Amino acid sequence: MQRPVFAANWKMHHGPSDARAFLRSFLAHYARRPDRQVIFFPPAVSLAAVVDGLRERQDIQVGVQNIHWEDKGAYTGETSAGMARDAGADLALVGHSERRHVFGETDEQTAAKVAAAVRAGLVPMLCVGEKLEERERGETESVVLRQLRAGIAKVEPHAVAGMLFAYEPVWAIGTGRNATPDDAAAIHGVIRRELLSILGEKAKAVPILYGGSVNRGNAQALLQAADVGGLLVGGASLDSEGWSTIVRT
Ligand code: PGA
Repeated sequence: MQRPVFAANWKMHHGPSDARAFLRSFLAHYARRPDRQVIFFPPAVSLAAVVDGLRERQDIQVGVQNIHWEDKGAYTGETSAGMARDAGADLALVGHSERRHVFGETDEQTAAKVAAAVRAGLVPMLCVGEKLEERERGETESVVLRQLRAGIAKVEPHAVAGMLFAYEPVWAIGTGRNATPDDAAAIHGVIRRELLSILGEKAKAVPILYGGSVNRGNAQALLQAADVGGLLVGGASLDSEGWSTIVRT
């Protein structure tokens, strides 16, 4: 049994001052625990503040919410994986549904970002998930498999074995409508079987997180579902006391 992963995706919340205040309060509530992995994905401008706030807490990791697929160049407003690594990030979130559906990112761009992260020494957390209309058309499995296969197409299997994955049904994100533990287990099983076919036994150790309206009331039941190795949490990770309760689930 792998230790569960608890990842906070702050989205466009918590600038540097709020991030520092959050960590002061969170660290007072969350003592080091070797039986779980905690990750923060702050906005890029707060990365340095979070890395600094966690310098005494090497047990907690930090990631960026987005990277560009090129290593450098004329891409105004963008952040490269290498720069994020240099600023102290360990991981990069790639293929989040808001990147795909609000910013129009394609499977091809997602794959290129996964490859850029790996080149720079960042661990990618690849997000996949179907939209409501896709679920209603019975396409959940095919959409998730398409996004998964495309997302890892540009990296070698040994890199895939070091990645993290997150299943986030789009209809459950920020809506208060979470998937049931059975829904999550079914799709996590699909992802696990696909990873097993690529990686063999090593796939068993790859964390697959569930995300979408996770809160302190449903965290435990979701974590107990088969093949759910952690939680990727947006809204409920924004308040330090609530988040510290979730990571102690
Ligand atoms: P939510 O967001 O917990 O607010 O639904 C999850 C996510 O988008 O990662």
